[in-house]
Amino acid sequence: MRSKTQGDQAIPSSSPIGVFDSGVGGLTVLRALLDRLPGEDFVYLGDTARLPYGSKSPGSIRQYSLQAARLLHERGVKCLVVACNTASAIALDALTQEFDPVPVIGVLEPGAAAACGATRSGRIAVLATESTVRGGAYQAAITRRRPDAVVTARACPLFVALAEEGWTDGPIVEGVIHRYLDQIFVAGAAVAHPDTLVLGCTHFPVLAPTLRKVLGPDVAIVDSAATTAAALAEVLAQRGVLRHDQAAGSVTLLATDGPERFARVGAMFLGRPLAPTDVEIVDLAFAPAPSGT
Ligand code: DGL
Repeated sequence: MRSKTQGDQAIPSSSPIGVFDSGVGGLTVLRALLDRLPGEDFVYLGDTARLPYGSKSPGSIRQYSLQAARLLHERGVKCLVVACNTASAIALDALTQEFDPVPVIGVLEPGAAAACGATRSGRIAVLATESTVRGGAYQAAITRRRPDAVVTARACPLFVALAEEGWTDGPIVEGVIHRYLDQIFVAGAAVAHPDTLVLGCTHFPVLAPTLRKVLGPDVAIVDSAATTAAALAEVLAQRGVLRHDQAAGSVTLLATDGPERFARVGAMFLGRPLAPTDVEIVDLAFAPAPSGT
């Protein structure tokens, strides 16, 4: 089936879906996309050479995100998923504008939707990178859906380093969680603490079991992976480009540096074994902008 035009060219439903992140964290999103849409082909790009995006300026984040998306666009993708909260918070408008009519889906709005679906009290804590917190996009997306929400946002940059190191549990991880979260989740405080915690960074879901251990059973812990997968399925269906003609799709993995590290750490995020030879190294400096921009 062919649908919607990309310039004067139809986008076939057999085209792959492009997914990018600053590194391997977005593989937690890819995992949910594969569960939801097993018949689709995916091309995943991790910009490992320039990770982290979360401590960079908005200008650099926009530039890096556009370069990553251009490379995927060159590979003829029918849709772009920005599997990075920082890039979704800072660069989504620029990406949507540049790649129109190719749909661009970020993880931030689906994450905000998941938080609003889970909270009872409207008190929500968002854990994210410095740039995501500073930009205020999560806070705005939540209060747009639920104007009475009280949102506390906390930058947790060390969580990215811990996850990248494969340290997801144990006393050091618990200590860092206490250091970041004790102020927000104060037992016996005069004001009730949040009932919902949003993992507003694609690296954080691997820390969820330890967060649960530290916070106890009463706090809902949500991330954007499943809601992003639902949003992607809806957009593909709306555009008539859902793929129905194959049982199992393919996954192509691209990175800008370090295939060994990508495979070792990425396997934990994706939940399946990976070898360095599964990862193709690409150079983003030469990815051209789409014609007409
Ligand atoms: N992928 C980023 C995010 O979801 C976290 C890592 C980084 O700072 O680049 O915000």
